[in-house]
Amino acid sequence: MKNTPLNRRQVVQTLAVAGAGLALGSPARAETKPLEAVKIAPLSSLKKDFDTAEFTFDGDAALLVRLPTLPNDKRRALEVKDNPGKDPTVKEVPAKDPAVKDPLVKEDDTKFYLVAYTRVCTHLGCKPNLPNATEHKMICPCHGSTFAADGSVVKGPAKRSLESIVIEVRGKDVYAVARAAAAQ
Ligand code: FES
Repeated sequence: MKNTPLNRRQVVQTLAVAGAGLALGSPARAETKPLEAVKIAPLSSLKKDFDTAEFTFDGDAALLVRLPTLPNDKRRALEVKDNPGKDPTVKEVPAKDPAVKDPLVKEDDTKFYLVAYTRVCTHLGCKPNLPNATEHKMICPCHGSTFAADGSVVKGPAKRSLESIVIEVRGKDVYAVARAAAAQ
């Protein structure tokens, strides 16, 4: 069969088809791979309020914290209710509106809350210290930003709270499953 050179119209059509193929292919390449769930700690290891478990998620240092009350920061939390003699009940709850009650005062002795977040300062990315023993605040060693135990920012220069991580209880263990921003 004789090869004939493509005329200008055929060349344009060929390029258009090739371009469409690339365009169709690009969303798949742009999709982010779902993160693998990471086992953080057994639920039973968080025995008292403000106990913590350090872990790494998606390459970032991160922290799981047991809180006595709902976080102040509208972030997702798991509510855990102790049932004497049985497994605890776990449910996801929306956080309450900011700052009506003292976060250190427990309202219900049978319940506690779990939150997780990255330990990457939202100012310039340093690693805030673990919550201190008295006020349970986390101070960033670089420029002094301060975060509450629920990850919310209480003093700048950081303006944003620590990035929330979605957690689940699977069996007897707590898992990190997604970055909260990506899960919304
Ligand atoms: S990097 Fe944390 S306060 Fe600047």
